[in-house]
Amino acid sequence: MTAIEIREARRDDLDELVALHYRCFSEEDNKSMRYGPAFVRRTYEFFLEDSISYAYVALIDKRIVGATVGRHTLYVGALNRFRLWAGLWGVLANPHLLMRKQDLASIGQAIKPRLARALGNSSKEDPVHTATLASVCVDPEQRGHRIADKLLEAAAENCRRAGVPRLRAVVLAGNDPSKRAFARAGYEEDPSWPRHESHAFFLEL
Ligand SMILES: CC(C)(COP(=O)(O)OP(=O)(O)OC[C@H]1O[C@@H](n2cnc3c(N)ncnc32)[C@H](O)[C@@H]1OP(=O)(O)O)[C@@H](O)C(=O)NCCC(=O)NCCS
Repeated sequence: MTAIEIREARRDDLDELVALHYRCFSEEDNKSMRYGPAFVRRTYEFFLEDSISYAYVALIDKRIVGATVGRHTLYVGALNRFRLWAGLWGVLANPHLLMRKQDLASIGQAIKPRLARALGNSSKEDPVHTATLASVCVDPEQRGHRIADKLLEAAAENCRRAGVPRLRAVVLAGNDPSKRAFARAGYEEDPSWPRHESHAFFLEL
C-alpha cells in the first residue's frame, strides 16, 4: 500500500477535515453533527487555533484519509467557553429539541466543573493533568491499514512532549474497532467510568 504521511493539521485542511468527518461519523456516534457542518468546522477550527490543542492528519498521495484532534487538558478553560456556546447554540438552533441532555451537559460542564462531575465524569479525571483525545477517524475506504495507530501515536507523542501525564479517550460502548485501536496503543479502560453508553480509556504517558 502507498506510504502514509502523518503531519500536523493546518488551517487550509479545514474543508477536507469537515468532509472526512462526515464520511467517518454519523449523528448517532457524534451528536454535535446535528448542529450542522458549520459547527463541525468550528470544532476543528478550535483545535487548530487553540494553543494547547493538537491536530494531526494522515495523508495518502496528499489526500487526507485520517485525523485526530485533542487538547492538553480535559474540557476546561477555553474549550469550556466553546462548549458553553455550543450548548447555547444547540438550544437556540434546535428549540424543538430543547432540554436535550447533550446541550445541558455542554452548558453545565462549561459553567460548573462540579456539575460536570455529577453529569458523569469519573473520579480518575483530573482536568489539569489529563489530556483529551477528542476524536480519531479514518476514511472508511482506507480502514484496516492501522492508520489509526499512527494517528494515536502522534497524539500521544504530542501530549508527552507537553509534559501531560495521561491522556483520555471516550468511546461509544459498541465501537469495537476503535477500542481495539486504543488497546493496541496502550490505553487501559477505566472501570469506574459511570456512563453505560460509553467507555473511557486512559493512556499513562
Ligand atoms: C476506529 C478507526 C479510527 C480505526 O481506524 P483504522 O485505521 O481502520 O484501524 P485499523 O487499521 O486498526 O482497523 C480497525 C479494524 O477494522 C478492520 N477492517 C479492515 N478493513 C476494514 C474496512 N474496509 N472497513 C472497516 N474496518 C475494516 C480491521 O481488520 C481492524 O480490525 P482489528 O482491530 O481486529 O485488527 C476507524 O474505524 C474509524 O474512523 N471509525 C469511525 C470513527 C470512530 O469511531 N472513531 C473513534 C471514536 S472518536
